[in-house]
Amino acid sequence: MSNITRRPKISIIGAGFVGSTCAHWAASKELGDIVLIDINGDAAKGKALDLFEASPVEGFDSNVQGGSDYALTKDSDVVVITAGLPRKPGMSRDDLLATNSKIVKECAQNVAKYSPNCVLIIVSNPLDAMCHVALNATGFPRERVIGMAGVLDSARFRSFVAMECNVSVEDVQGFTLGGHGDTMVPMPRYTTVGGIPLTQLVAKDRIDSLVDRARKGGAEIVELLKTGSAYYAPASSAIQMVEAIVRDKKRILPCAVLLKGEYGVQDLFCGVLVKLGAKGLEGIPILEMNAEEKDMFGKSAAAVKGLVDDMKRLGL
Ligand code: NAI
Ligand code: 2OP
Repeated sequence: MSNITRRPKISIIGAGFVGSTCAHWAASKELGDIVLIDINGDAAKGKALDLFEASPVEGFDSNVQGGSDYALTKDSDVVVITAGLPRKPGMSRDDLLATNSKIVKECAQNVAKYSPNCVLIIVSNPLDAMCHVALNATGFPRERVIGMAGVLDSARFRSFVAMECNVSVEDVQGFTLGGHGDTMVPMPRYTTVGGIPLTQLVAKDRIDSLVDRARKGGAEIVELLKTGSAYYAPASSAIQMVEAIVRDKKRILPCAVLLKGEYGVQDLFCGVLVKLGAKGLEGIPILEMNAEEKDMFGKSAAAVKGLVDDMKRLGL
């Protein structure tokens, strides 16, 4: 007899642009049943119903529910927290610190109450600091609190490389490490186009401009949207992580995890390559960095530490 008892259950907290788009990608990939939670329960309920009504057309079998009651999320396998304010033009991610830390704390506590064994993916900004808030609020082990930023920042860098080389995005591999801020560390030395190192194909000054554009990728979208921040690529990135977990894919993806001495960083969330599977964080393969890369990674970790120290100072 089969051991299969039910579909994976995926809850998404915050049914705004990122959260509802996460639900859309998750449903279209038929990753499991979906719950959308928002402080505005009717909006979450309406979006969930609307998405479910697309299922006969699109042909996905996912129950989609929404509301403001965390009881709906009971026994989720994966929970994605997207609740919080997005950036407005001229705002930095750090400006969101005080408001979003309160929101993320409340959401994470509610999630832990109903799904004490879930893997938690944090999306709310400022990302690395919000991972600390969620870890403290839930008391979960580091294996089950993972931040989404690296997949997005890497996707942006890969998109810009594909544009530059006029090749398919499918043939561009690469990743971005460090914190989710202006100090993030795209890694051109490990970026390939059809297996060929980027450094052999594109001149250094052009690579530098692609790195710079990736670092400012979030702000570029904010300036264009004017009333909010990016959501298609962020949601797609979060759902790639969800898929790695619910399908136990053991993908190697850049994610923010609590480092405990890896890369010389202690007790700080920072983006590194990790193995993601059913248990969440299942390993941290260590990458060799040259002196320049180590220096940039160290500066990025220091920027995250600055935010964590600010939270302590503000009593958040
Ligand atoms: P949004 O404003 O469209 O949605 C946020 C939702 O959170 C709203 O529906 C709001 O009602 C809800 N909310 C607020 N307080 C809540 C609470 N206490 N409980 C439950 N829900 C609550 O914003 P958007 O565009 O969806 O962005 C969400 C967050 O994700 C922002 O902080 C943004 O900066 C961040 N973000 C992070 C990215 C990353 O790479 N890590 C990428 C893109 C966005
Ligand atoms: C982004 O990178 C705002 O952090 C968000 O688009």
